[in-house]
Amino acid sequence: MATMSAVHPEIADKKTEDKESVPEDDPHSLKVKPIYVLSARAESLGPIKVEHIQEDPRPGDDRDIDNAGRRGKKKKRRGQNKKRPRDVRQDDSEKICMAIMRSAPCPYGDSCRFSHDLKGYMATRPTDIVELKEAMGGACPNYKNNGYCIYGAMCRVGSSHVTKTGQNLRNEQATATKKDSVCLEEKDASSLSNGKNSPENSPPVSDFNSGNILPRDVQSQLRKNKYPFQCKRHFEAREKEKEARLDVKDDCTEEKVKTSSKEVTIDSTGAFNGIDSSEIKNATSPTISSFTPIDELKTKKIIDFSNKVYVAPLTTVGNLPFRRIMKQFGADITCGEMALSTNLLSGQASEWALLKRHPSEDIFGIQLAAAHPDQYTRVSELVEKYTDVDFVDLNLGCPLDLLCDKGAGAALMMRERKLKGSLEGMSNNLSCSITVKMRTGWNIHKPFAHELVPKIQSWNIDGLAAIMIHGRSRLQRYKLDANWDYISQVANESKNIPKIPIIGNGDIFSYSEYKEKVLAHDNLSTTAMLGRGALIKPWLPTEIKEKRDWDISATERLEILKNFVRHGLEHWGSDQQGINNTRRFLLEWLSFLHRYVPVGLLEVLPQKINQRPPLYIQGRNDLETLFLSPHASDWVKISELLLGPVGDDFAFRPKHKSTSYETNG
Ligand SMILES: Cc1cc2nc3c(=O)[nH]c(=O)nc-3n(C[C@H](O)[C@H](O)[C@H](O)COP(=O)(O)O)c2cc1C
Ligand SMILES: [Zn+2]
Ligand SMILES: [Zn+2]
Repeated sequence: MATMSAVHPEIADKKTEDKESVPEDDPHSLKVKPIYVLSARAESLGPIKVEHIQEDPRPGDDRDIDNAGRRGKKKKRRGQNKKRPRDVRQDDSEKICMAIMRSAPCPYGDSCRFSHDLKGYMATRPTDIVELKEAMGGACPNYKNNGYCIYGAMCRVGSSHVTKTGQNLRNEQATATKKDSVCLEEKDASSLSNGKNSPENSPPVSDFNSGNILPRDVQSQLRKNKYPFQCKRHFEAREKEKEARLDVKDDCTEEKVKTSSKEVTIDSTGAFNGIDSSEIKNATSPTISSFTPIDELKTKKIIDFSNKVYVAPLTTVGNLPFRRIMKQFGADITCGEMALSTNLLSGQASEWALLKRHPSEDIFGIQLAAAHPDQYTRVSELVEKYTDVDFVDLNLGCPLDLLCDKGAGAALMMRERKLKGSLEGMSNNLSCSITVKMRTGWNIHKPFAHELVPKIQSWNIDGLAAIMIHGRSRLQRYKLDANWDYISQVANESKNIPKIPIIGNGDIFSYSEYKEKVLAHDNLSTTAMLGRGALIKPWLPTEIKEKRDWDISATERLEILKNFVRHGLEHWGSDQQGINNTRRFLLEWLSFLHRYVPVGLLEVLPQKINQRPPLYIQGRNDLETLFLSPHASDWVKISELLLGPVGDDFAFRPKHKSTSYETNG
């Protein structure tokens, strides 16, 4: 594990053994023009507070890769930083009840857990956050864009819409154009910022403009385990049947009859026992693990991923405000963060919030992770009924122990029978496209995607629109370069052009790399699938579409962050809680953004994702220098430029370790 002395350049300097000398010709060292290379940290950045120091952003001692048994003396839990600091929560009793803010009677009366003392609140109400107000152009973005800000007196830029007595103004003209706002205000007020959710695990969401909201009564049924799933009985019956024929090899019985029909019409009585094939018109597969006696499925929509920029699912950082930025820079397809089926099935609001879609997301998918066909099947039934999505992605790539230990994520790649059942369950419940996102295998030495992909293709899953392959194994995580030759080999296994497009993924960081990695392999889909590249260079879709390296200025980059904050205030709220959440997610993003080295500083173009810059570099102005800082304390400073000062006890540690240069081990 990196020590504090390795963390901090100034301190690290004192320990000569921590100094890294990168050979001149090392392909993993980034060539920066000498005038921007410094021998010490830029003075303009000022002193660093010790409590803000993050873990070493440089490659550490990675010993648990693939051959852990041989090299791995020091077993680390990798991938996520545990024990990150949390924000202090504001007590509910300090927040004003949403009903009171609307001058409406509170249905909970005296038992309401929020304060009804608006007058008292107004006497001590904090003033607007100056930095935030300035960054937002002088007014609350919620009021400005929607004509009404549901945070009322609690809005931290509320002076534009709150009177001295606490009355919350409404701009009728603007609200009339936002019909959604009223229904959200009425329906969802209690699940907003002063709802039950804890700030970190489940940031409450209040977006006026985004869809895919689970109805209250359904959420309540799910919580009580009373939701009348129509596929469930069938699934259980099917499982019993399977158990009864344990001696029969799974694959041979299920392969029998297949049609490629796009329409499934199934007995609406919901009775599985006794159903026979005559009752099933055009069923995809009569031996499926879960027939769907719900509404008649519409014709399956197949998404064409070719020639498009697709922003991959990105837990935490691929949130809705970030995706809006990606759309503004030309991304064609976006996807929600991985949602855990168990949490969706228990009606967890924070998990359902991950499925939200902004109107600008015109081709939008969600990603599900589960370990069992039953879960995929039931969630699909809910997704079909209560959301509007263009595709649902099945996660076969998540490397986290939390998932893999249960047989989900990358571990599901090795459980073919479950995988097949899951895909069939999805196919029979969804009218949108289905995609699968996998890694090369478990272990770098024995990749098996080339065996699995042809099998998946042979299952003839109706609606399967694409298979994405991240060119690394589960144990590899982000080490070494993604293996694009192997990805291409996988596509070759399915003779000639694969029936289902294969989309390669890994390390695309510039137009020229898109050309080298994607276009150079003519058996792969022409999709530019971006992960960290989109996080580090959110303007990457524009670069790819315009075939250029964009020397974007620091001021333009600050504008991007302002837009993120604006979207953040709409999504997470403009009260203190919403601002705390916006700051947290901004900081998570900044833990990636600092890795961009401006084009104008480079001796050799373009920057590659895994190239390490020299230890100290400066930009062409102070802001650019600040953006280059790998120190969490400086990211906090950037957040303060936009969201105002943090408290003395504020600390930040990024969630993902993939923020660091985990390369070339
Ligand atoms: C911060 C972060 C979060 C991620 N979250 C997910 C996720 O929720 N689901 C998923 O399938 N992959 C996830 N990935 C993997 C990416 O989608 C992508 O496959 C991977 O980063 C390789 O692409 P890249 O080299 O362009 O980053 C995540 C990656 C990062 C860096
Ligand atoms: Zn109340
Ligand atoms: Zn407001």
